[in-house]
Amino acid sequence: MTVPTADAAAPIFHTPVCEKLGIRWPIFGFSHEIDVVVAICRAGGFGVFGVAREDPKRIPELISRLRTAVGDAPFGVDLMLPAGMPDRTPTREEVDARIPEQHKVFVERLREKYAVPPATRQTFFTSFVRSRQLFDEQVEAVLGSEVPLIATAVGLPPEVIARAKAAGKVTLSLIGTPKHARAALAAGADILVAQGYDAGGHTGTIGTLSLVPQIVEIAAPSGVPVIAAGGIATGAQILAAIAMGAQGAWLGTVWLGARENHTHRALLDKLVAAGSEDTVITRAHSGKPCRVVRSAWSEEWAAPGAPAPLPMPYQHALTGELLAAIEEHDVKPLVYEAAGQSVAWLTGERSVAQIVDALLDEMRDGWARMSGLAARSGAGTPAGAHSTGRNPSTDR
Ligand SMILES: Cc1cc2nc3c(=O)[nH]c(=O)nc-3n(C[C@H](O)[C@H](O)[C@H](O)COP(=O)(O)O)c2cc1C
Repeated sequence: MTVPTADAAAPIFHTPVCEKLGIRWPIFGFSHEIDVVVAICRAGGFGVFGVAREDPKRIPELISRLRTAVGDAPFGVDLMLPAGMPDRTPTREEVDARIPEQHKVFVERLREKYAVPPATRQTFFTSFVRSRQLFDEQVEAVLGSEVPLIATAVGLPPEVIARAKAAGKVTLSLIGTPKHARAALAAGADILVAQGYDAGGHTGTIGTLSLVPQIVEIAAPSGVPVIAAGGIATGAQILAAIAMGAQGAWLGTVWLGARENHTHRALLDKLVAAGSEDTVITRAHSGKPCRVVRSAWSEEWAAPGAPAPLPMPYQHALTGELLAAIEEHDVKPLVYEAAGQSVAWLTGERSVAQIVDALLDEMRDGWARMSGLAARSGAGTPAGAHSTGRNPSTDR
């Protein structure tokens, strides 16, 4: 690893995974918005486009738009492949038959209570129900594309990893427990993202600071690099992740405040006002535990007398039209999005380039702070301390 310096032009923290992927900074950014992914790649990071909410038929066109926009830069695509979904996409009638009357009444009451006008536009959740068949179609679209890296989250089908590798793609798995890390390594994942409890989106129960070093230790014998995720939105936290043996950080929530994300005003205001304590884990979003910014939506589903959210994919089948309407009409109390404890650092709208610059400045500041402390205690610079100590990033 290149020793970082306070010099703004220095190639700070060019970890081995930067070398492996051909990126400038060890900053990975997940987003469902193509413009954000493109801007992350242009800023020298690694942009990953989430296609879990995309029509399989549109995926090839979206990926080729990405390729054109980023030129030669590498980028990735993220698939969600949860177990336990219906094998084939159910018809509207079949879905309807699976949704209890009590749940339908509850959702209609919410619509009336908050005076939500009907949705006039289709969204993924008004048009699709998650199923094995849908995932297979998404997988085929991604495998047949020119995307260089495939990330798999919420579920790990080893056959998808094997096929992606056979197609010459780098594979990356998001994991939240040591057990899942071992399974991902056994399946042949090339990179692990250790995503802790603090993260926005579907999340496990182990905090990032406890999870990352355990996964680094598990991955060390294989030489598979580990990236830290969950609650990270500052350069000092990226440094901390590297200090724990990770080779970079994977950020999601921070990009919701990016100009390129085109976040609706009511949602942006809510995210800016939120602190870490204003995120909650709820099943009311997708049916699986998911960290979101608190809103009347999460509160209503947690209130006494509310029905328990339905399992995936039926929760979204039940709520998809109302959620689309809430978003379309910016219904303030109800708007929400997946968001991590890192939301505390979302203080206003900035461009992706400004966010990346700030992260790099904070990494330099953090390094200068540590160097100052090391000099005061007579231990030399952290770089000197590194060369005599164990460095999991380079010893592998
Ligand atoms: C709005 C949003 C949507 C997300 N959707 C997905 C997804 O579809 N697939 C996935 O692998 N991770 C998803 N995540 C999780 C991110 O990949 C990442 O692990 C997480 O955001 C990191 O924690 P942070 O939110 O504190 O930065 C999502 C996160 C957010 C904030």
